[in-house]
Amino acid sequence: MEKLMIRGGKPLNGVVQISGAKNSAVALIPAAILSDSEVILDNLPNISDVEVYSEILEEFGATVVRKQDQMRIDASQLRSVAMPNGKVKLLRASYYLMGALLGRFGEATIGMPGGCNFEPRPIDQHMKGFEALGAEIINDHGSIKIIAKQLVGAKIYLDVASVGATINIMLAATRAKGSTIIENAAKEPEIIDVATLLCAMGAVIKGAGTETIRIEGVQHLHGCRHSIIPDRIQAGTYMIAAAATRGDVTIDNVIPKHLEAITAKLEEMGVEVIEQDESIRVIGKKRYEPIDLKALVYPGFATDLQSPMTTLLTQAEGVSILTDYVYGTRFKHVPELLRMGANIRIEGRSAIIEGKKLNAAKVRATDLRAGAALVIAALIAGDDVTEISGVEYIDRGYDDLEKNLRRLGANVWREHIVDELAETC
Ligand code: EPU
Repeated sequence: MEKLMIRGGKPLNGVVQISGAKNSAVALIPAAILSDSEVILDNLPNISDVEVYSEILEEFGATVVRKQDQMRIDASQLRSVAMPNGKVKLLRASYYLMGALLGRFGEATIGMPGGCNFEPRPIDQHMKGFEALGAEIINDHGSIKIIAKQLVGAKIYLDVASVGATINIMLAATRAKGSTIIENAAKEPEIIDVATLLCAMGAVIKGAGTETIRIEGVQHLHGCRHSIIPDRIQAGTYMIAAAATRGDVTIDNVIPKHLEAITAKLEEMGVEVIEQDESIRVIGKKRYEPIDLKALVYPGFATDLQSPMTTLLTQAEGVSILTDYVYGTRFKHVPELLRMGANIRIEGRSAIIEGKKLNAAKVRATDLRAGAALVIAALIAGDDVTEISGVEYIDRGYDDLEKNLRRLGANVWREHIVDELAETC
């Protein structure tokens, strides 16, 4: 077990390079098993979720070769073995194995996904989609068995525009017989990224990125090479950190269009944001206006940036209201921020945040983005040292976080937790 140690009080300055998107990578890796020849993924993030996923594919019999930010996946020898336990439980996105295995073999047995459980995260819409495609679903002591003699295209209306359900249904439908239409599909950029890979593998998919996606099933998918889009959440996290520390940071290798919502809200607070072709410069200011913020599905403000934004809003002069319409109880970072002196009240799905100076403390990350919120809080908490445990959550999604922060001038290092009590802070 490790903890992050951060001595705050220094503005971040310089340039940070953004890696490929975690939430694309964890869908593209399983998508590759729909092909029976090699798929090469470039611009892969160096995060533990990717590491775990590549180990899972090896357990299924795929050959996975990782070199720097590239992964070569040869799933020609892949078998559909039951995986009720083990590594699938470590990863939320292991649910994509269901759609991918179903598409390739007509069957899958996978344990319920783990990962960041900041609130109950149902997968009923994934199941509804598989059933509409003709699969039978058997819930067997917490693992899910999905079987289909022949997947047949169908029209599927999603009750919620779920990212995971949209991608999972796309994966299964690429090799179904006939046409599938997904209505009320999620529109996140990661959906387009997955569709782009699948089309390069020979799938026929139209409308990804809109609320109606049409998929014409094909019999065979082949290998290809694909470069993953930049991680908009990682980029947004550094934008927020730059603003919070009153620094001046250029966030490089981004698609500014994917960052429009965060850019708009930072500007509303009084942060200076300069957009370039593939980078964004964020210049922090001394005083910030409080704002109202609603986390919504894309192109709205991302729920994944809601927690880091909570920290920034503690620096505004007045009361901000932040409401999460995607995950109504995603506030596990709030009690930790209170330990650091924040003044935040939760009312329903809203956090009411009053501007307040933060102090260093011992805190615990209980999910990935809560961890990011605490890192930013630590960077601005006077010049004392904040200790953040639960680092394994942060490692799931932030490529080279400490290295990047150190390059930007932060005083951050990692220590082993030797004392059990430190864990329970
Ligand atoms: N929902 C249902 N039923 C379903 C699926 C979703 O009711 O079958 C609800 C959820 O409870 C939630 C909403 O629909 O209220 C949206 O959930 P969605 O399915 O879109 O989330 P997800 O696919 O499980 C992905 C990201 C999350 C991100 C959300 C929302 C991955 C691996 N995860 O999760 O990322 O918060 O979309 O944008 O892509 C993170 O990166 O920290 C993270 C949690």
